[in-house]
Amino acid sequence: MCGIVGYVGNNKSLEVLLGGLKRLEYRGYDSAGIAIIDEDGELGTRKRAGKLQMLVDDLEATPLHNGATGIGHTRWATHGGPTDVNAHPHLGRDSKLALIHNGIIENFSELKNELLAEGATFASETDTEVAALLVGREYEKSGDLTDALRAVVARLEGAFTLLAVHQDQPGVVVGARRNSPLVIGLGDGENFLGSDVAAFVEFTRRAVAIGQDQIVTIRPDSVDVIDFDGNAVEVEEFDIAWDASASEKGGWSSFMAKEISEEPDAVANTILGRVQNGLVKLTEFEPLGDEIIANIDRIVVIACGTAAYAGMLGKYAIEAWARVPVDVELAHEFRYRNPILTERTLVISISQSGETMDTLMAVKFAMESGAKVVSVCNTHGATIPRESHAVVYTHAGPEVAVASTKAFVAQVTALYLIGLHIAGVRGTLSDDAIRENVAELQAVPEKISEVLVTSQSIKQLAHWMTDTQSVLFLGRHVGYPVALEGALKLKELAYIHAEGFAAGELKHGPIALIEPGQVVFVIVPSPRDPNSLHKKVVSNIQEIRARGARVIAIAEKGDAAVLPFADEVIPIPLAGSFFEPLLAVIPLHIFGMELSAAKGLDVDQPRNLAKSVTVE
Ligand code: F6R
Repeated sequence: MCGIVGYVGNNKSLEVLLGGLKRLEYRGYDSAGIAIIDEDGELGTRKRAGKLQMLVDDLEATPLHNGATGIGHTRWATHGGPTDVNAHPHLGRDSKLALIHNGIIENFSELKNELLAEGATFASETDTEVAALLVGREYEKSGDLTDALRAVVARLEGAFTLLAVHQDQPGVVVGARRNSPLVIGLGDGENFLGSDVAAFVEFTRRAVAIGQDQIVTIRPDSVDVIDFDGNAVEVEEFDIAWDASASEKGGWSSFMAKEISEEPDAVANTILGRVQNGLVKLTEFEPLGDEIIANIDRIVVIACGTAAYAGMLGKYAIEAWARVPVDVELAHEFRYRNPILTERTLVISISQSGETMDTLMAVKFAMESGAKVVSVCNTHGATIPRESHAVVYTHAGPEVAVASTKAFVAQVTALYLIGLHIAGVRGTLSDDAIRENVAELQAVPEKISEVLVTSQSIKQLAHWMTDTQSVLFLGRHVGYPVALEGALKLKELAYIHAEGFAAGELKHGPIALIEPGQVVFVIVPSPRDPNSLHKKVVSNIQEIRARGARVIAIAEKGDAAVLPFADEVIPIPLAGSFFEPLLAVIPLHIFGMELSAAKGLDVDQPRNLAKSVTVE
């Protein structure tokens, strides 16, 4: 949700800002803008509604002077529609100050009224312009950008990252953050700021995450961080584990196509280094200690969207292995209903970005309530892991396409590792049983690779279905979250009405939706399933087939029982029941992507969405 980049150093702001915005575009893509202080000390700005390319074209047609200091922004609109005037940067009163913003300033109308009473005029409908005018006003008093920003953030409510430059202070970019991301990139004679490390990974692999309520001032040779009270803050450097090419498309038709192809690696890399002697060893749990894990009486998983579906799979596995009750809650619902948490509750938050505001607020609430909080996260230096007791990183690599794919399988993998770790500590599974499950998990990457090859026929299927208006997805037990994930992908990527149902629920209402030609994907459990759910799902298929549904079954290779009742069968390799979802979801990821592409839509940047949702 809004990408931010800042730069001080050499006379190459334009290249750094546009390169950074390109890599951050997944965070918001309805307008973009930059501000640069050029060699003559003049502040120039340019901003355009539409995708970043609109700004690039505009700059090519009418170049802006390059300079050593600049800020850039790619927007996901909150206050005010996606227009040229509402795009960032916004200017201070004398047009010497430029400011960009990610987040929402909740008390902006009160502050705006104050400025209106002083005779201020506004060019845009944004809350950001209020902040720009306030910082400009403070700068007129103090003549120092850091002081000006500090005076203003003390008055702001809500979530924000702000970056500002002032023409009278060339060679300085100041940033401030509350509940919204900001990372520093450390260079040689140059320094960077970004919403995440993708903003500057092309130039440096050295980074520093900025804590809550802190202000950073970068100059070419220095980085100073203070808190909102003005006290100096010690910062800790970390190395960026991936290089710039990891966040580039590299020959694939879309980032999503590339990221689906990386699903085997996402699982394999998340397991890497966490298995010893066939057993799971999560050193990340050390800050909590085995005694606490042995004594937890409940686990609450909090997450949103796809991450919540990963959480549902985690629930099935953790309850089965560690014999602890697990509730999965949408973070935004959990946070505002006064939930019951105790010191014996373990909260597991799941977030690819580590910045989702709904999840962050739920994590903060859980921490304040005395629960133990472990985060599953894919992004180093993100806010949620910093606010938790412990973090288990998924190693999916940067996920750029807005719709989550490889992060999902990595999240499920991390949750399974957590489940097996807790089962080991609590003694609810024998070492042999843990080893068996670990071996199953380790075999998943190769099986996903197999699915990637056999699922190519789905492209054809998608091409036939471009006029389809509605698709249903059915699954049972661990197939149910997969059905929900398949439906979500179709909604967000192909803009088709899609619903996922627990197959057992069908006869309690949804079966009324079935009419001749209705497409229904069914995730079929293995015929080897000990709970004989296979038979029940095959009966469900017969029920909908009898009413004219067109059935596409995702079923274990060699499952002869589904063949007579399915119009299409997508085979997946044999796996234990908890591991099937990691295979069954792949054709659904491919289907969502292919149908979006076949309809001529933007696979990587679906309408109205942004990658990291940093507003509540
Ligand atoms: C769907 C999707 C979203 C995210 C959700 C949580 O494809 O990507 O539903 O899963 O917004 O995002 P994170 O994991 O960053 O907290």
